[in-house]
Amino acid sequence: MEQLRIGFLAAGSIIIHRHALELAQNPDAKLIMVYDPIRERAEKLAKTYGMKVAASEKELINNPDIDAVIVATPNSEHARLCIAAFEAGKHVLCEKPMATSLEDAAAMIRAGEKAGKILMIGHNQCLMAPHLKAKQLLKEGCIGEILSFRSSFGHGGPETWSQDNGPHTWFFKKDKAFVGSMGDLGVHKAYLLPWLLGSDFVEAGAFIDTKAKRNEKGELISVDDNAVCILRMANGVTGQLTASWTYGAREDNVTVIYGTKGQMTLGADPEYQVEVLLNNGEQARYKVGAMATNVTQVKSGIPDLFVDCILDEMPPPFDGMKGYKALATVIACMESAASKKICAVRNELP
Ligand SMILES: NC(=O)c1ccc[n+]([C@@H]2O[C@H](COP(=O)([O-])OP(=O)(O)OC[C@H]3O[C@@H](n4cnc5c(N)ncnc54)[C@H](O)[C@@H]3O)[C@@H](O)[C@H]2O)c1
Repeated sequence: MEQLRIGFLAAGSIIIHRHALELAQNPDAKLIMVYDPIRERAEKLAKTYGMKVAASEKELINNPDIDAVIVATPNSEHARLCIAAFEAGKHVLCEKPMATSLEDAAAMIRAGEKAGKILMIGHNQCLMAPHLKAKQLLKEGCIGEILSFRSSFGHGGPETWSQDNGPHTWFFKKDKAFVGSMGDLGVHKAYLLPWLLGSDFVEAGAFIDTKAKRNEKGELISVDDNAVCILRMANGVTGQLTASWTYGAREDNVTVIYGTKGQMTLGADPEYQVEVLLNNGEQARYKVGAMATNVTQVKSGIPDLFVDCILDEMPPPFDGMKGYKALATVIACMESAASKKICAVRNELP
């Protein structure tokens, strides 16, 4: 295969600002077709990149000129579309959270295995420069044995980002999104921390609320806008994860990792995005590049990696099983908030 031929299921913001933009600059990718139920969105994207507009999901999924599909619809559609794409013999890059239930996520993984095709999930936080640098430093043991962490991901909310611009956005609707700030932002950290620290989450406790966001009727939204979670990893490391859609004044994407020799702070200082402070007073600060925000976009590297994995026949590093565990962590947090009990993270496929 010389070039990977790609179809887009949706013409929403993540496709516009990242996937299509990045793939259009990738000589190994050819953008073929797009489908969006709001046809004008599909037509606008198709015009920008010289693609065809599909009249239906089916037309795109069954197009023999397409090798791989990118699914970036509201969360409720992910599983159905990914499974249909695998059944049609396509590779799939699916946005996060990969599904709205563990049963659906498991069915996606199994459909990919049955088809012998790649399933990659768009967990782009792992490719951000500060997180890549942190992974390298942690591997070198720069802060010793890891003991604890705190990690936060919050901004002013998705209603100014989504193509459904305003309080009517699907992100605020339980039947489309399934969870709110925890599914939009918390799941990124539920994925990132095991990747950074090398151990799965196994137990969760959480308080998850809807405090401020209102829908088009002026009612509080039906999904969470704030989550405060405590988590334990299989290796015994414990820490805190917070997600929020009400940090309106400044985006917060900061992680602090505490080890036996010192601590590492990621994303706090705009100039030195990785800071290491040792217990003996030694310090090291690294300028590695900014963390992306909704306002200040930075190349994600996700679609290029997806193309490379398919063309070079490599398993994707951000695979369905890791996406499944991140979803399982979010679900355990939701269960804990509802039951007021510590809940196990169900990391095994049912
Ligand atoms: N990785 C990241 O950092 C990141 C960032 C933003 C969004 N996302 C994820 O990407 C997905 C899309 O988010 P967005 O911000 O682009 O939303 P958006 O509201 O901007 O766009 C969603 C688009 O999907 C379209 N759509 C709805 N049903 C469809 C269907 N059956 N087939 C094709 N298109 C359909 C809508 O008409 C809309 O144009 C979500 O799962 C979201 O969580 C990931």
